[in-house]
Amino acid sequence: MLPLAELHVHVEGTLEADLLVRLARRNGVPLPSDDPAELTARYADFADLQAFLDVYYANLAVLRTEEDFHDLAAAYLSRAAAAGVRRAEVFCDPQTHVRNGVPLEAVFRGLGAAFAEARAAGMSADLVVCFLRDLGGDAAVDLLRRALPHREHFIGVGLDSAEVGHPPALFREAYEMAAAEGLHRVAHAGEEGGPEYVREALDVLGVERVDHGNRALEDPDLVARLRDERVPLTVCPLSNVALKGVPRIEDHPLPRMLELGLVATVNSDDPAYFGGYVDDVVAAVRTALGVSDDDLAVLARNSFAAAFADDADRSRWLGEVDAWRAAPPR
Ligand code: ADE
Ligand code: ZN
Repeated sequence: MLPLAELHVHVEGTLEADLLVRLARRNGVPLPSDDPAELTARYADFADLQAFLDVYYANLAVLRTEEDFHDLAAAYLSRAAAAGVRRAEVFCDPQTHVRNGVPLEAVFRGLGAAFAEARAAGMSADLVVCFLRDLGGDAAVDLLRRALPHREHFIGVGLDSAEVGHPPALFREAYEMAAAEGLHRVAHAGEEGGPEYVREALDVLGVERVDHGNRALEDPDLVARLRDERVPLTVCPLSNVALKGVPRIEDHPLPRMLELGLVATVNSDDPAYFGGYVDDVVAAVRTALGVSDDDLAVLARNSFAAAFADDADRSRWLGEVDAWRAAPPR
């Protein structure tokens, strides 16, 4: 199994249909069906990002208690460990849960308990709090203010949800606050929005990585900048196909990103909805895109280089990639 860091996964997007049904029963929340297979079948065809987000947010009504958040994160972290993930930097969307009437404390304590268990089992894992861009800049500042008393539970901030019409510059103040607090900064950009969203995330928000970044490829000057400044892109091939940014996995630009010298990494995004965890993503790019073992090792090294981890852990993990490359297990 290829060892890697997963840097782009939404904990809410790991809500598998069987856990969804279990939590709905536990909390008395109605669902359109109580058959996990039927619910999963509905995830097979999303017209675009918004069509997915509508289902994703609706399902999150089942998350009510600290225990629910624990169970959600614990399921992901153990599945990720089995997928070869040594380091997980996991997004969460607290505004969704607050909107559903859940206290912020229950979200952080529940997720935090699962992260503590994963660390005790030898995995490295941290949380990144995302702002929902469709709720605007003032709501992001308000969330960050309310999240700061729980600062020990997260290492950075991100920006997600509906991209087009909600450009990065709207979030300048929240990102300035985050920087002043010593938090890491990332943002989704260039998933559906154009290259100007990627540029703005770099210039206005000061992001250290770009989540997705696919549409940066439309702008050669931006590509040169991303390459020269070694800005990592957290690429999500199965997600891009599921949300119709790319017609088929065979058409995915990942090989081109590598040829261009971009610091691309591979990630699952919302594995419960898009056809698999990061080991499934690796298998797909290997078989459908013909990514070589050399390039898989590059993707894994990129992931550890891009991780917000300490240098001792990073060099141990890079050694594991070298060992994998020397004798790739089939
Ligand atoms: N929230 C969860 N998954 C997302 C994605 N792929 N893009 C934007 N926001 C998201
Ligand atoms: Zn995402």
